[in-house]
Amino acid sequence: MTTGVHSVPGLPLLGSFFEYRRDKIGFLSSLRDDGRPLTAFRLGKHNITLLKRPEDLIHVEHRNAKNYHKATMLRDLVGDGILMSDGEKWRKQRRLIQPRFHPSSVAALEGLMNRKIDDFIRVLADRSKTQDHPIEIGMALKKMVFEIILEALFGEVDHGDFSELQEPMEFMNFFLTYRFNELFPLPLSLPLPRYLKFQKARREIDRVIYRYIERKKKEIRSGRAGVDLLTQMIQSVDTDTGIGMDELQLRDETVSILLAGFETTGNLLSWILVNLGSHPAVLGRLIKEIDSDIGSSVPRAENVLALSYLSCVMDETLRLQPPVWAWTKRALGEDSLGDYRIAKGQILFLSPYLVHRDPRLWRDASGFDPDRWTQELREKTKGAYFPFGMGPRTCVGRHFAVLEAKLIVVRLLQSFEYRISEGNIPEPEFRITLGLKTPLHVFLKPRRNHA
Ligand code: HEM
Repeated sequence: MTTGVHSVPGLPLLGSFFEYRRDKIGFLSSLRDDGRPLTAFRLGKHNITLLKRPEDLIHVEHRNAKNYHKATMLRDLVGDGILMSDGEKWRKQRRLIQPRFHPSSVAALEGLMNRKIDDFIRVLADRSKTQDHPIEIGMALKKMVFEIILEALFGEVDHGDFSELQEPMEFMNFFLTYRFNELFPLPLSLPLPRYLKFQKARREIDRVIYRYIERKKKEIRSGRAGVDLLTQMIQSVDTDTGIGMDELQLRDETVSILLAGFETTGNLLSWILVNLGSHPAVLGRLIKEIDSDIGSSVPRAENVLALSYLSCVMDETLRLQPPVWAWTKRALGEDSLGDYRIAKGQILFLSPYLVHRDPRLWRDASGFDPDRWTQELREKTKGAYFPFGMGPRTCVGRHFAVLEAKLIVVRLLQSFEYRISEGNIPEPEFRITLGLKTPLHVFLKPRRNHA
């Protein structure tokens, strides 16, 4: 016998919209902690069920994943790219793209990553010499991460294209959050100021991307094809049909990878620095590990991936501040979660942020403790720890993100004595990604024999 999910009472038409809007996390945490296995709430016409139990999360993301499709507004930007497509179309895209993100393909990007990190360290070293007040590092991190993903996608990138793309991409992150929170979303073609700005940002992004598609096609025709991701996508053909991707598909895949890959890793890095800055003993241990295992030489992928304490620091940051803090899925057909009935069309809310901080699942759930990451815990946390999602739609770029973030942390700590500006621990901001509400100010002093 299955039963319906309990729904919290809300206002007619609006549901819990105001409570959600006023304090998303406070509201959602109160539902998480209400003693029920599942709780539903309404936002306007949408009835949404919050998943809390690891077994339900595994069921939806993994065991019965084909019954659940993506259900967010990101389609406005990424169209039918891998991030938002579903069913057979998604399976084909995943088959084409996944091998490019295999650990061995990603390790081959170590040279590109290190080159960009060199530039970043050089800029910081100059600024730290001429500035005796703290440096805002969050924007510089995001800029570097954006440049790395762009060069991985396009090979060589014209200097002006970095800034031409970064600004509209950042606006998109802001706009899509706003759109997600709109109670009654109107057609984007209406001439409202924000919608017009969205259209303009989209046009700017498309202009640059289509220019690179054309350039890569020319290079392929003239026998000068590069090894960048876009060239590989242009050259790939579907094994069943023998057909490659058309221009729109190439554009959608490119925007999907850009959107998925830059704010996420940028925010992860900022949060790692916040956590290290506010836990000097952890920072000290990490520096010791880097100094003893790598010293001052430029690290290779295999060196940074072998640093076990760095892995614990990263896993603990991904637990407390998962950059993709929540997403939704829609049930294609009826299903059950334990004793509960899930209706066709039901929207489910999955939040690593809430589950990773659930005191019923984690000891000292809100404390930052990298030492908790023993092998035993790693095996025990199935369904309770999923910063990259789980099941068939697990983040395709996770090896890329982890390598990139580890290289950057190692190079920063090799080069600088690092300290966070006291009394300046930024609060989280819950947008599409989990950002920082205020800028991240840090003190950097070049290390002797290192920088
Ligand atoms: C710390 C950084 C990152 C985090 C926390 C993260 C997290 C996630 C999550 C939670 C999902 C959705 C899983 C689901 O729907 O069940 C996802 C999907 C995806 N991510 Fe990441 N991601 C990160 C970095 C990256 C990077 C660097 C790239 C590309 C270079 C990337 C590319 C993608 C793509 C293409 C998908 C869609 C996969 C699919 O639906 O098949 N991500 N990511």
